[in-house]
Amino acid sequence: MKILVLGSGAREHAIIVSLLSEGAGHEVLAAPGNAGIGRVATLVDLDPNDPVAVTNFADDAGVNLVVIGPEAPLVAGVADRLRENGVPVFGPGRAAAQLEGSKAFAKRIMQAAGVPTGRALRAASLIEAEAALDELGAPYVVKADGLAAGKGVIVTEDRAAALAHAAEFLPQGALLIEEFLSGPEVSLFFVSDGHTVVPLSPAQDYKRALDDDEGPNTGGMGAYSPLPWLSTQFGGEEEFVAEVQRTVAEPVVRELANEQTPFIGLLYAGLILTDSGIRVIEFNARFGDPETQVVLPRLATPLSSLLFAAASGTLDEADAPRFALDTAVTVVLASEGYPEAPQTGRVITGLDAASAVDGVHIAHAATTQRGDELVASGGRVLSVVAVGTTFAESVERAYRAIGEIGLDGSHYRSDIAARVIEGN
Ligand code: AMP
Ligand code: GLY
Repeated sequence: MKILVLGSGAREHAIIVSLLSEGAGHEVLAAPGNAGIGRVATLVDLDPNDPVAVTNFADDAGVNLVVIGPEAPLVAGVADRLRENGVPVFGPGRAAAQLEGSKAFAKRIMQAAGVPTGRALRAASLIEAEAALDELGAPYVVKADGLAAGKGVIVTEDRAAALAHAAEFLPQGALLIEEFLSGPEVSLFFVSDGHTVVPLSPAQDYKRALDDDEGPNTGGMGAYSPLPWLSTQFGGEEEFVAEVQRTVAEPVVRELANEQTPFIGLLYAGLILTDSGIRVIEFNARFGDPETQVVLPRLATPLSSLLFAAASGTLDEADAPRFALDTAVTVVLASEGYPEAPQTGRVITGLDAASAVDGVHIAHAATTQRGDELVASGGRVLSVVAVGTTFAESVERAYRAIGEIGLDGSHYRSDIAARVIEGN
C-alpha cells in the first residue's frame, strides 16, 4: 500500500515504524515528518492542516490510505475532505473530532450515551467559576474548553490558583469546573470504523514534567504497556478492556453515529480508576503520544490492515488485533526549559550508541537535520523506546540507551515504570 502519514512527532514515527515492520513492502510518505522519520520514509513538503492540499496530493500520488496523527488536521477538516473525494482516511471528521476539541461537547456526548465521568459545571464568568469551585470543593479541577496543548487544565488545592487559571482562560470561552477524581490513570485506545469498535492494549502515561509526578503538566514524559497491576486491581486486563469497551467506547461511537457524525479513527479514552469505578477524564480523537510508542511495538497483527479496515468501514470482518506479552517502555528526552520555554537548535549526539542497545529504538519527536548534525527542534525531542520480556529488562534498556544521548540542558524522568518493577 501507499500510505501517507500526517504529523511530525514520535507518535507518527512509531506508526511508520510499525507499518514498515510488517515487511509488506508499503511505500510510506510523511508530511511534514521530521529528521528521524526522513530516514525511513519519504518526506513530503505539504501543510498537513490544509484539506485541499492534502487531498490533491493524495489524489495525484495515488495514496491508498491517509493516517492522521495529530488533532490539528482533524479539527481543520482534513479527513472530511479526503472522504468526500473517496480517499480512505484513518481519522474522524471535524464534527466527531470535537470529542477532543471541545470538553463541553465531550461531556454532552458522555451524558447522552450514559458514560461514567466526573461531575462538571460550566462557568462563563469568574462569579460562576467561584460558585462552581465552592460547590464541588477542593482539590479543584479547572479546564479550558478548547485545545490548549495540555496547558488548559489545572488541578490544585489552592483556590486562588484555581481562580487565577479561570481568569486566564475565560477570555477564550466558558470553562468546565470538574469534580476531582482520584486513582490510577489509564489510556486505552479503540479503533473504530464508525460502528464497530476494537480495543488495543492499555498503557499508562506520565504527564508531569518531574519525578514523583511533580512539576507542570506536559504532553507526556514517558509511558509503559501493558499494565500488570490491572490483574490485582481489576481482575485482569481482559476484563478491564471489555468493561471499558462496553461502558465507554461502544456507547460513545453509537451516540456519534446516531448524531450523523460517525467516529472513524482512534478513540483515545483517558480514564481514572476510582474507588467507585472507572471514570472518563478525557477523550482524544487520535493516537496518544507517548502511549503509541509502547502500544504499537507490542502489536502482533498488521497495523495497516487494521487502519485500512477502519477507514473503509469493514472492521467487523477484520482480524482482531493481538498483542505480544512483552513489555514496552518509553522515556521522553525533553529540551531545557520544556514545557514552559523549550530551547531549540541544540545538537543531539550519541543516537547510534543508544539505538545499539538490545531491544531499543528511538522515535524522533522534534528533530531536524542541519548539515551533518541532528538538532532539537522542539520541547519533546526523542522518545526512547525499549522492549523486553520483563519490565526490569525494558526499563534497564531504555535508561541505558538514554544515557548514551547527548543534548545540552536536556531532561527526562527517571521513574518511568519504576513502581511496576517494585510491584513485581
Ligand atoms: P486532561 O487534559 O483532561 O486530560 O487533563 C490533564 C490531566 O489532569 C489528566 O491526565 C489528569 O492527571 C488531570 N485531571 C484531569 N481531570 C481530572 C479530574 N477530574 N480529577 C483529577 N485529575 C484530573
Ligand atoms: N499522552 C497524552 C496525549 O496524547 O494526549
